[in-house]
Amino acid sequence: MTLQSAAAQCADHIKKHESALVVSHIDADGLTSAAIMGKALERAGIEYGTRFVKQLDMNALTEIADQNPELVIFTDLGSGMLDAISSLKINAVISDHHPPQGSHDRNLNPHLFGINGATEISGAGMTFFLASALGSNMDLADLAIVGAVGDLQHVKHGQLVGTNRLILEEGARSSVLRYEKDLLLFGKQTRPIFKLLQYSSDPYLPGITGSEDASIEFLKRTGIRLHGEKWRRWIDLEPGEKQHLVSALMQYCLSTGVKASSVQRLVGEVYTLLREREGTEVRDASEYSTLLNATARYDHADIGLAVCMGDRGKNFEEACDLLDEHRKNLVEGLNLIKELGVMKMENLQYFDSGNRIKETIVGIVAGMSATFINNKNLPIIAFADSDGGVKVSSRGNYDLIRKGLNLGKAISEAAKEVGGAGGGHDIAAGAYIPGGAKTEFLKILNLKIGEQLKSG
Ligand code: C5P
Ligand code: C5P
Ligand code: ZN
Repeated sequence: MTLQSAAAQCADHIKKHESALVVSHIDADGLTSAAIMGKALERAGIEYGTRFVKQLDMNALTEIADQNPELVIFTDLGSGMLDAISSLKINAVISDHHPPQGSHDRNLNPHLFGINGATEISGAGMTFFLASALGSNMDLADLAIVGAVGDLQHVKHGQLVGTNRLILEEGARSSVLRYEKDLLLFGKQTRPIFKLLQYSSDPYLPGITGSEDASIEFLKRTGIRLHGEKWRRWIDLEPGEKQHLVSALMQYCLSTGVKASSVQRLVGEVYTLLREREGTEVRDASEYSTLLNATARYDHADIGLAVCMGDRGKNFEEACDLLDEHRKNLVEGLNLIKELGVMKMENLQYFDSGNRIKETIVGIVAGMSATFINNKNLPIIAFADSDGGVKVSSRGNYDLIRKGLNLGKAISEAAKEVGGAGGGHDIAAGAYIPGGAKTEFLKILNLKIGEQLKSG
């Protein structure tokens, strides 16, 4: 069986119904997954509703079952609850990319086909295959790529690989996407160039990151004109100016002792959504995914979903306002970690943000903090207060994975032992644990990660 034929089977099942409930995850990949499914259902003449959850636990599942929906399509989640979905007798299709636990007849999952769900395909990508089997939906490839980029699947190789690449090429053929090598700093479509430098965290530009004055000074020294009528953005520069600035940045990094591997990350593949207006937050896949996270992770999934469905009016404006807040929160979160520092154990390092970082973005902050935390040989574990307990987020790196690290497995087992629940990918995972269980959880997790690294 191939991924395509499994998708066709799931699509045939969906077609037998008149209505469906799409249940998805509150991040960029979850929103784009739900939007792809929503569009495909709409085009197939099937009525649908959507519901977003922070985590698909027994509570959330029971609530869904109690509504007695004709059919539930789980997107970007569900893999951890396959047996529970069956035992609650929910008529379901699961379109997810997390490692599956248990089994289900209509479980569309890349791991069953030897495809890596952390680097080769996202929830939105899986749902794109399902949508393609439902009808003529090739144009939705752009949303699938936004989902993959939102899950940082392009980071490992500096470009999308594997099944994501097939989707990308479909998108290019359908003229909805373009890909090319370009500067990777964030905000090329929408922000004045100096802000790209000022907010650069990967790589961290010594003496420039964090300083508006130093960023402007650097550009002047490099001979880049800062404004025409308005501040110039990256997309306003001539090709020659772009090349000149990229080499100046590389030279600067090398001369200030930035590691060669970090310098390399200045340039990589970027993804442009050709149907979107130039200079907007939705023209570039990376900016788009951040815009979506700024909605769903703050209880406004409805706004992000409306943007994915095509609203460029009121909902788009609201999303842009939320984006300002989100950016501020990320910067404050990173500053907090710099201030607190990280605690080290033998096989992990951790910080506890208490109530100062929102639980829904602590994972993003933990991932970003890896660029300035000195010790790259240990995974980062983060805690944030959550209603009635503690949210755990963790991020590793590919060196550690080569040595045997599997955070999804370690976190899920350790959480279970202290009465919590969690899961995720080898490189990024999360959990909820009871309030008083942090110390015990860390002790168990430290041992589990130690075992993984020893036997890897
Ligand atoms: O819930 P989900 O799997 O979709 O979330 C993926 C999260 O894991 C992203 O927020 C991303 O930060 C992280 N991740 C990562 N590197 C990868 C894959 C995922 O940091 N290769
Ligand atoms: O929340 P965070 O961004 O840290 O999540 C990282 C990964 O762990 C995501 O893939 C998410 O779906 C997964 N996760 C999970 N169970 C949780 C929390 C997170 O499977 N309770
Ligand atoms: Zn995902």
